Amino acid sequence: MRALYVHIPFCKQKCFYCDFNSYSGKEHMIEQYVKALKNELSFALQKNDDKPVFKTVYFGGGTPSVIPAKYIKEIMQDIKCDGEVTLELNPGTITKEKLMTYKEAGVNRLSIGLQTTNDDLLKRIGRIHSLKDFEDAYYMAREEGVNNISVDLMFGLSNQTLKDIKSSLDYIINLKPEHISCYSLIVHDELIKKNPNAFSNLPSDEEERKMYYLICDELKKNGYIQYEISNFAKPGFESKHNLCYWNQEEYYGIGAGASSYINNTRYKNIDNIEEYVAAIIDRHGEQYSIIEEIQTEESKIKEYMILKLRLLDGVSEYDFKNRFNKDLFSVFKNELDKLIDLGLIELVGDSNKSVRLTKKGLDLANIVWEEFI
Ligand SMILES: C[S@@+](CC[C@H](N)C(=O)[O-])C[C@H]1O[C@@H](n2cnc3c(N)ncnc32)[C@H](O)[C@@H]1O
Ligand code: SF4
Repeated sequence: MRALYVHIPFCKQKCFYCDFNSYSGKEHMIEQYVKALKNELSFALQKNDDKPVFKTVYFGGGTPSVIPAKYIKEIMQDIKCDGEVTLELNPGTITKEKLMTYKEAGVNRLSIGLQTTNDDLLKRIGRIHSLKDFEDAYYMAREEGVNNISVDLMFGLSNQTLKDIKSSLDYIINLKPEHISCYSLIVHDELIKKNPNAFSNLPSDEEERKMYYLICDELKKNGYIQYEISNFAKPGFESKHNLCYWNQEEYYGIGAGASSYINNTRYKNIDNIEEYVAAIIDRHGEQYSIIEEIQTEESKIKEYMILKLRLLDGVSEYDFKNRFNKDLFSVFKNELDKLIDLGLIELVGDSNKSVRLTKKGLDLANIVWEEFI
């Protein structure tokens, strides 16, 4: 069974820092877009002689909660999934009725974008909601019986201080979500010109690292296990869907700009919503995606290392052998020796050894990835 990602590229307003494939002002496209999604899914399944039965489903974006909830239900009616079904939502776009429809549709996990509890900062980065809107959405979801909630936070933002981070963490920890993702701001140069204010007075690299350590320490103290560079969960609440990506498992990705990984091949769909819809509906599925990579055994092994090392458990000798029928420490002797010498990765375990990032490696993960590219 494979995982399924469904991309919903609509947002009420574009946040100033975000370069995801999402658009505001294209609401008139929603109905056609959903039709295209359903068609794409049937084309993709037909091509691979597969059934619409999935291990996990993830509605991501963009903002899946901006479109009428009936469409989520319609898409789910074509699908069977007994596992985790996640939907990303933005606090400014949610109602009790929508939450009830998600539940009927089979959504059992919500991922809510908060970013920070500081209302001035929320405005400065272009968010459409206040902390109060988030709180209302969170409690509404709990009242509707959602027992698996993830919250997104960001750090390294304009004017943000360690004190801000601490107060966002205290607030979130007190709400007891099952999962927390903490993302360091990625600055996209082309966005600075549009909204310089959102990028003024950014913390230094050193301050930004201190924020990361504070996040890791505080969440650990409060029972959250860091299982990936940016992800923390109460035991048993790790994101099953995202683990599929990091464990290099296969998945379908449908929608504008979505990626798929099927039979050792990585595909990427057309980004542009209008062109995507035209390719699926008017041209009946002609050229809506390109092949990005057909993996060789060698490129697959290298990618496996990069994906798996993102996880705090790292790469185990046993799993590597099981998967590739090769010895991890022979295939990557030079790379692993070098990274261990640099203090970026460490060896753990006795009979079944693993390699994993050290604290320094978590900071300098790019140097680690470069060794395997
Ligand atoms: C698709 S959005 C989540 C759902 C919804 N669209 C929202 O923003 O509330 C995914 C997450 O990516 C993170 N993100 C987006 N752009 C980012 C950037 N430039 N740097 C770091 N994190 C970013 C934010 O934390 C955001 O919540
Ligand atoms: S709402 Fe989410 S996807 Fe949309 S622009 Fe903001 S961060 Fe990006």
